[in-house]
Amino acid sequence: MAQGSVPVLTIDGPSGSGKGTLAQRLARQLGWHLLDSGALYRVVGLAAVEQGVGLDDETGLAAIAEHLPICFAASAPGEPAAVILDGRDISKDVRSEQAGYYASRVAVFEAVRNALQARQRAFAQPPGLVADGRDMGTEVFPDAPLKVYLTASAEERAQRRYKQLKNKGENVSLATLLEDIRARDKRDSERVVAPLRPAPDAHIIDSTVLPIDEVEQQVLGLLRARRMI
Ligand code: C5P
Repeated sequence: MAQGSVPVLTIDGPSGSGKGTLAQRLARQLGWHLLDSGALYRVVGLAAVEQGVGLDDETGLAAIAEHLPICFAASAPGEPAAVILDGRDISKDVRSEQAGYYASRVAVFEAVRNALQARQRAFAQPPGLVADGRDMGTEVFPDAPLKVYLTASAEERAQRRYKQLKNKGENVSLATLLEDIRARDKRDSERVVAPLRPAPDAHIIDSTVLPIDEVEQQVLGLLRARRMI
């Protein structure tokens, strides 16, 4: 197993596939730790903009990633964590569309990815870890005993995001969201370093027409079959 005897479940996939929700539900249900790796990239992007470091300045961005004074404050393993940067709660900014855009810009750089790698691996602590991202199964936890790749059509993912934002009272256009999702997919899957793709041994689950409960049950079944729970 990855990281000694700590069981690690990796969940990768494109934006809006439902992997964040799935990872959170499973971590809560199992009482395992949760790594939201996208949040790290989002915080690097936000911190860069705040400090006036260019989103194409690889060296400057890597220095930020290396020294990021960030902590995730969860009340218990698997509970949603507040994102604290240098003592400030920036949870709301981190989930914004803007931060997602910054994240996908900084994530193309190898030096940034390398700087975040040790930090991500340190999340593998007993009793277990659910790691959510793009390269959890391919790069960060390549020895994880269960890797899931969750996907859904771009149209369905845009619809889900649209509903989420509407519920939050944000005024957005579905067409723009679909365009953003397609652009993000392209950037994530065509980048040279750690492109978004399923690990060769990943279980691919298409959630386009599958309710989240069913996806969750499927993954719990896979964990049991591997005697990870
Ligand atoms: O998952 P989330 O939407 O928070 O990720 C934001 C962006 O961060 C992604 O579009 C991707 O470019 C980048 N990312 C990454 N590798 C990860 C997690 C996120 O490149 N493991």
